[in-house]
Amino acid sequence: MKLKNKVAIVTGGAMGNGLGIVKVFLKEGANVIILDYAKELESTVQNLKNESYQVSGYQVDIRNSLEIRKALKEINSKYGNIDILVNNAGVCRLETFEKTSDELRDFHFDINIKGTWNVTKETIPYMKKGSIINLSSVTGPMVADSGEVAYATTKAALIGFTKGLAAELVHKNIRVNAIMPGYIMTPMVEGMAKESNPNNPEEVVRGIARAIPMGRLGTPLELGNLAAFLASDESSYITGQGIVIDGASTLPETMTMGV
Ligand SMILES: NC(=O)c1ccc[n+]([C@@H]2O[C@H](COP(=O)([O-])OP(=O)(O)OC[C@H]3O[C@@H](n4cnc5c(N)ncnc54)[C@H](O)[C@@H]3O)[C@@H](O)[C@H]2O)c1
Repeated sequence: MKLKNKVAIVTGGAMGNGLGIVKVFLKEGANVIILDYAKELESTVQNLKNESYQVSGYQVDIRNSLEIRKALKEINSKYGNIDILVNNAGVCRLETFEKTSDELRDFHFDINIKGTWNVTKETIPYMKKGSIINLSSVTGPMVADSGEVAYATTKAALIGFTKGLAAELVHKNIRVNAIMPGYIMTPMVEGMAKESNPNNPEEVVRGIARAIPMGRLGTPLELGNLAAFLASDESSYITGQGIVIDGASTLPETMTMGV
């Protein structure tokens, strides 16, 4: 078990990618604490506890530093030092740049950028050494579809955040890396597919799969396996990097050339 007795915080772990990460971390022996604002948090934690895993949940909106600080204090008094932080909580709503209101822009910036910043700021004082993992994306740093300007901006920002923080924390033995997923099948992608084509969201998802050389979207557990590697000592010489996991979706140079 590569994370035996490690204490790990995963934001946005009530569903989707975060839940995939939580499940793999638990299987690898970690004590996992989920920070999430969704009502699903309670049932997610209960279901995992029913499988005898060491898991707890705190209802926290990562836009709210006071809520984060209060939770972190309690977590530290219960578990001691924190070894791993996964900044996974994030949002994506499709809208053209010209129709994006300031509110919708700030919704993305406040959760994806400032929320990640806030949780990291409040957690580092409790870390003696360890690993921080930020959920960026291929969207922003590498590619984009229309309607994703606000989201892409935030995910590109997280690469800068990752590198800057890695440079500072290297002397504290804290590694900082980013995961850059292509499409992973989660409630977020279901929501985006509905926004894209309310009458036939399934066809949107099938279309995404057709455009990926591996012919399918990724799963939250596949993402969880990469997060566990980056959280563990197996990746002890890796910091400041963005690792792509995308079924080769960003690999093709053209849609037509080839034998
Ligand atoms: N699914 C994909 O294809 C994909 C691709 C690239 C990157 N990502 C990134 O992976 C991460 C997770 O995405 P997902 O697809 O699982 O999304 P999701 O919507 O399925 O789940 C996101 C979780 O984050 C929580 N959350 C959102 N805002 C929060 C807040 N302010 N405070 C606390 N919790 C909050 C939600 O309640 C939810 O449990 C995001 O950062 C996303 O940008 C996803």
